[in-house]
Amino acid sequence: MELIRIDDLSYSYESGPALRAGRYALRGVDLSIRKGQYIAVIGANGSGKSTLLKHLNGLLVPTEGEVRVSGMSTKDKTLLKEIRRTVGMVFQNPETQLVTTLVEDEVAFGPENLGLEPEEITERVEWAMAVTGLRALQGRPPHLLSTGQKQLLTVASVLAMRPDCLVLDEATSMLDPASRKRVDDTVRRLHNDGMTVIASTHSMDEAAEAGRVIVLAGGEVAADGEPREIFSRRRILRELRLELPTTVRIADLVKNRLFVETERLFNPRLLASAVSDAYRKGGTLR
Ligand SMILES: Nc1ncnc2c1ncn2[C@@H]1O[C@H](COP(=O)(O)OP(=O)(O)OP(=O)(O)O)[C@@H](O)[C@H]1O
Ligand SMILES: [Mg+2]
Repeated sequence: MELIRIDDLSYSYESGPALRAGRYALRGVDLSIRKGQYIAVIGANGSGKSTLLKHLNGLLVPTEGEVRVSGMSTKDKTLLKEIRRTVGMVFQNPETQLVTTLVEDEVAFGPENLGLEPEEITERVEWAMAVTGLRALQGRPPHLLSTGQKQLLTVASVLAMRPDCLVLDEATSMLDPASRKRVDDTVRRLHNDGMTVIASTHSMDEAAEAGRVIVLAGGEVAADGEPREIFSRRRILRELRLELPTTVRIADLVKNRLFVETERLFNPRLLASAVSDAYRKGGTLR
């Protein structure tokens, strides 16, 4: 089932003469996102990732074209509340998202705005603080937290709203490995329970774990497919200044000893099984 539909979306931050001069951050983007997908959005700095993601919950509205969430156009202001209930977004810059004076109030803010029962709010706040490991920061003012802690807090605040669709704009980029793993595991679990996830990242290893990868370049969709298709297009990745996943780069170093094309080994599980396969077939890796 289609959850988000983007038709011929173009967006310019300019207006007036500059807009007529044609400086667009997004150009002619067509995408269909089905319910339950796990999508990674990749692309160089300035390629349009944040601009695209901000269109998914009506934070930005198209200069041209249309974005629909469950059939609701983001251009219709009366639908914004419902659209934001469906699509929860964690911004790239956590500062802009903090509104309250205590960590626990910040996490409760979203659920309170949804008009939930007090017990439900308490339960969700406890859960979100637990799964992100934020309990230790209870009672602290959000604006005094470290950048990574703020990022974790905005993740918890959005998770507490239990959106059908979670949009993460480089939302774990500043987290330490343990916090990142905790957030990743939680998001993965929610996804397994049916939540749609759309996450931008500069990590090809992270993108390789998604079900679908959308590559942006200069505000346009340069490629869109499963990781195995995207990461086999070395020339295009190079042209777009993107890396290969770590496991492919490792596999390239021992490619004479493997029995599969190294492009296929885009995650640790695939590399591990190719290595044990090679070992079994002749012990060439000894
Ligand atoms: N508030 C703004 N006003 C004017 N131009 C902007 C604004 N925000 C972004 N842009 C421009 O729009 C283009 C796309 O920017 P965007 O932030 O979407 O890129 P990005 O892919 O998210 O980059 P990054 O990887 O650095 O986060 C860039 O050329 C950028 O300079
Ligand atoms: Mg960005």
